[in-house]
Amino acid sequence: MLRNKAAAAAALLAAASLSQAAQAQDTVKIGIIQSLTGQLTAVGKQVMGGVNLYVQQHGNTVAGKKIELIVKDDTTVPDVAKRLAQELIVNDKVNLLTTGITPASFAIAPLATQAKTPSVIMVSGTSSATERSPYMVRTSFTLGQQSGIIGEWAVKNGSKKVVIIQSDWAPGAEATQVFTEAFKKAGGEIIETVKVPLANPDFSPFLQRARDANPDTLFVFVPAGQAGLFAKQFSARGLDKAGIKLIGPGDITDDDDLPRMDDAILGTVTAGNYSALHDSPTNKAYVEAFKKLNGMRPNFISLGGYDGMHVIYEALKKTGGNTDGDALVNAMKGLKWESPRGPISIDPDTRDIVQNIYIRKVERRNGELYNVEFATFPNVKDPIKAAKKGS
Ligand code: PHB
Repeated sequence: MLRNKAAAAAALLAAASLSQAAQAQDTVKIGIIQSLTGQLTAVGKQVMGGVNLYVQQHGNTVAGKKIELIVKDDTTVPDVAKRLAQELIVNDKVNLLTTGITPASFAIAPLATQAKTPSVIMVSGTSSATERSPYMVRTSFTLGQQSGIIGEWAVKNGSKKVVIIQSDWAPGAEATQVFTEAFKKAGGEIIETVKVPLANPDFSPFLQRARDANPDTLFVFVPAGQAGLFAKQFSARGLDKAGIKLIGPGDITDDDDLPRMDDAILGTVTAGNYSALHDSPTNKAYVEAFKKLNGMRPNFISLGGYDGMHVIYEALKKTGGNTDGDALVNAMKGLKWESPRGPISIDPDTRDIVQNIYIRKVERRNGELYNVEFATFPNVKDPIKAAKKGS
């Protein structure tokens, strides 16, 4: 009797999974895990703005398959991201995942490997995120890509003594590491590196300490969404009036926060992968459509979502709708296209993004603050991986 019951239950399960498999044949399920609440909500909003715009523009059918997005909020907590990924893989049987910030991407990587689920990293800027699983492909950026370039630029443009203020987590550590190496190699001196907690930061005491150290330049990394508060406290402490130059990766003048900053931020020079003012027809159309759909200016984070969906759609076209994990990741390798940020590609060796890095200066254009690009470093790879390869 018991044995019969068990056999019946097993048969039911098999039937259920068979019908799921039949359904899955016409539907591609994409589990989207992003930080929609918690510390980095601003990041989640931008990346979803990009995802939703891409789907609005390109429809929800690719290679004859219906695209189904299952959107989940990791609440900016890596353990939650991990649990959600598990549920999406086991219960929802998703064909692909997309991940957000670094701690969440790290938490999801082992599951992506186990289940052979292609996972597009839409936010994380930490070099090693793509190395945590052979199924991870990045469409965002790395902090190293930007920080080495601004380090060299700063020395060439008169910076000699720098204080670093760094948000204390993995991407911040990499910004500091790559900037420090490049800046010292070019002949500059780092006076001090000050680390600010990621959660609920108050930059004021750190800014005061930085000011007391009397540098000619401040190199700063804070994540998108914290740049507004940072700029306010920078201005309130009068660092601009003390004649201290502010430089950093693009995060500190991100297009989402920038419109609400004051004139103290004018003249800030950053190395970034995207400006809403980037001069191309593709970008003009992107900014207009993004604002219309999402009611805000797109920032560099939004492109990880928009281009991340492009990678998924193009890979599905290449495989003819085949959702095998290895086939999809292989199809993603080497993709090359024109993004609103400029020409970009997926490095076939590292599955990491290759993109232009622009040097930009904050100026007013038509009454609004923008990052105005004035120099371009084409096709920049993640320097931390490049150094490992060379060694
Ligand atoms: C990251 O998760 O690595 C990250 C998030 C926001 C940023 C930069 C890096 O602005």
